[in-house]
Amino acid sequence: DKFIVIMAGGSGTRLWPLSREVKPKQFINIDNGNCMLVRTIERVLEIVPAERCFIVTNKILANITQNTIKGLVPLSNILIEPEKKNTAACISYATLLLKERYGEGILCFVPADGYVKDNKAYKDAIERAFDAAEKTDDLVIIGITPTYPATGYGYIQTDNSEDSKKIMRVMKFIEKPDLETAKKLISTGEYLWNGGILVGSMDAIIKNIMEFLPDHYNRLTEAITHVNEGNGNTYIENAYNEIKNISFDNGVLENSKDVYVVKGSFDWDDIGSIEALSKTMEFDDAGNAIRGKHLGVETCNSVVVGEDKLIATMGIDSLIIISTPDVVLVCPKNKAQDIKTIVDILKCNG
Ligand code: GDD
Ligand code: MG
Repeated sequence: DKFIVIMAGGSGTRLWPLSREVKPKQFINIDNGNCMLVRTIERVLEIVPAERCFIVTNKILANITQNTIKGLVPLSNILIEPEKKNTAACISYATLLLKERYGEGILCFVPADGYVKDNKAYKDAIERAFDAAEKTDDLVIIGITPTYPATGYGYIQTDNSEDSKKIMRVMKFIEKPDLETAKKLISTGEYLWNGGILVGSMDAIIKNIMEFLPDHYNRLTEAITHVNEGNGNTYIENAYNEIKNISFDNGVLENSKDVYVVKGSFDWDDIGSIEALSKTMEFDDAGNAIRGKHLGVETCNSVVVGEDKLIATMGIDSLIIISTPDVVLVCPKNKAQDIKTIVDILKCNG
């Protein structure tokens, strides 16, 4: 059988103060008041039935996840990690648990933080990736034709990026290059963006974890043998405590020789910045992206997001103003990439 597992335990700081440690960006409302996690579940449910749609998140986010997804998938399909240890831990844990429960099957891991408009093209790409995983019995990822030199994504070089229907072999991974490198990669026409989607049979995924992350494999496998015991969670907590924090891309994909790519032709954005978020909003005639109550006089090219009170602005250009119940952020658009600095200072001050 085919399963889709949504990875929804990440955190991010670039969308602060809309995203917080206890409410990361997959929970931020985007179009029509739904968040990216709900949008992702809706997309996934066009491919597999709800019983075979799983969500992996962590303890801190367990409540908000349960409340957010109410009714869409069974609550028992939420797999809860004791802590955030990156995608290698998430994929290892979920795969070993599902292997234990179902014996065999093909898994597709998708990020919860992607914004996609074309559900049909998304479905089509994932179905081709499922086919490719069956055919090759290896790991398959989805590549997307880059539209600008993004620095927040991984790039993959394929053996042939011309034929969009073919299964291609990955030649090289380059994770989050700087702007200059990104420009070069794009100009060669040989690179695709890594969409962060992974497909493989349970056995193929486990084989790769055993080979490249033996610690993850050994500790989690051992811990899972205790899950049905009274103190089973303690074993999982201890295992998580010991395994290293590494992404599946770094830990496995970049080392594995047999990784394949199918091309996805869906529009896609992982909303890594306020500017990206604003593109999902409506713009008024003066180029402002507004959400919430706003009164603007001589206000242009700005992003204004109010979660509660009225925001009134006058004589401003290219500003970002975000108001949440406990924080107001004001900064020029060209500083949006540096918001992390504020978050770091706040963290230091407790
Ligand atoms: N359950 C769980 N546990 N989920 C996690 C964890 C974890 O410890 N860490 C991250 N995630 C989830 C995030 O919520 C997100 O949905 C997904 O896994 C990917 O993690 P990110 O942390 O957002 O990765 P990234 O955006 O920096 O980079 C990856 O995704 C890009 C595409 O969006 C890489 O695969 C890039 O190469 C890729 O381009
Ligand atoms: Mg991401």
